[in-house]
Amino acid sequence: MKPRLLITRRVFPEVVEALSAAYEVETNPDDAFWTPEQTRAKAAGCEALYVVATDRVDAALLEACPRLKIVATGSVGYNQIDVAACTARGIAVTNTPDVLTEATADMAWALLMSTARRVTESERWLRDGQWGRWAWDQFLGADVHGATLGIVGMGRIGSAVARRAAGFSMRLQYTNRSAAANERELGATRVELDTLLATSDHVVLVLPYSPATHHLIGERELGLMKPTATLVNIARGGIVDDAALARALGAGTIAAAGLDVYEGEPTVLPALLEVPNVVLTPHIGSATRSSRLGMAMLAARNLLAHATGDALLTQVNAGPR
Ligand code: DGY
Repeated sequence: MKPRLLITRRVFPEVVEALSAAYEVETNPDDAFWTPEQTRAKAAGCEALYVVATDRVDAALLEACPRLKIVATGSVGYNQIDVAACTARGIAVTNTPDVLTEATADMAWALLMSTARRVTESERWLRDGQWGRWAWDQFLGADVHGATLGIVGMGRIGSAVARRAAGFSMRLQYTNRSAAANERELGATRVELDTLLATSDHVVLVLPYSPATHHLIGERELGLMKPTATLVNIARGGIVDDAALARALGAGTIAAAGLDVYEGEPTVLPALLEVPNVVLTPHIGSATRSSRLGMAMLAARNLLAHATGDALLTQVNAGPR
C-alpha cells in the first residue's frame, strides 16, 4: 500500500500526477479554507504533508498525525512549522530555496520602484478621473538611481536584490548576522540596523521571521528613517509592526511603503488599506509561473525522495529521515 499524502492547497496538476506514483494523494482541488480542526482530521492518517507558507504546522497538528514522517513546504520560509517539534518526533522538514530567489528579488524591485515613484497611487488617481492637466509637482517621488539602498538580511534573496542595484548606480549598505561573503563583489557595506535605517533612502527587508525578528521594524525604528524614505517588505508579516507602519505613513514619518506580506495575512490591517502612500500586493513575491512551478516541484521531489528512501534535496532539520 502506498503511504498517504495530504496536499493542503490546489497545486499544479503535473505535481499531483508525479506524486501519485508514490503516494495515495488527497488534495484540496477547490482551494477550500480548512480550519485547523479540519486539517487535523484530514491529516490524521497521513505519512506525508505538503503545505504552503501560511499553513501552520504546530504541536496540535503533529499530535493528531502519529504516522507523519515528512512535512514538505512549498516555500523557502518555514517559520510556520514547529521544526523542533517535528525533529523531536522524527519528522523530516523540507523547504524550497533557490528556485524562487530571482523572481522574489524582481518583486522587491517592482515594489521599490512603484513605491518610490508612486505608480499605483497615481494610477488610482488617474482611474478616478482626477487628471485634469499636467502639473510640475504632480506625484513627485523619490529618486531610485544614485540613492542609498539598505538591505536588511543579505542571504540569497538579499544578494539578488543587491546585484540589481548596480544598474541603478546605488550606494549599498546592509545588515546581516555575519558579514556577507560577497560584500566586496556587491560593493556593499555592513552597518548596524539603526545606522542603515537612518541613512538609507530605500530600505528592503529580506530576512526570515523568527521570535527574534518579530516587530524588528516598529515605531522607534520607523522614527529613525528619513521622512523621504521608502520601506519594502517582501520577507514575512510580523517583521514589521503593521499598526506602527500605518501610523508612520499617515503622519509622514516615512514617505511610502511597499508590502507583499502582512501580520495575520490574508487579513490586512484596515489602517493600512486607508493610507494612500502604500503599495499592497497579496504575497506574490515568488509568483511567476516558472518560480512557482519550480517551488511546487522541488517540494514534490523531496516527498518522492522520501518515499523511495533517497536523500532529501533540501531538508531543514538534521536527523529525521
Ligand atoms: C516563501 O517561499 O517563503 C515565500 O514567501 C512564498 O510563499
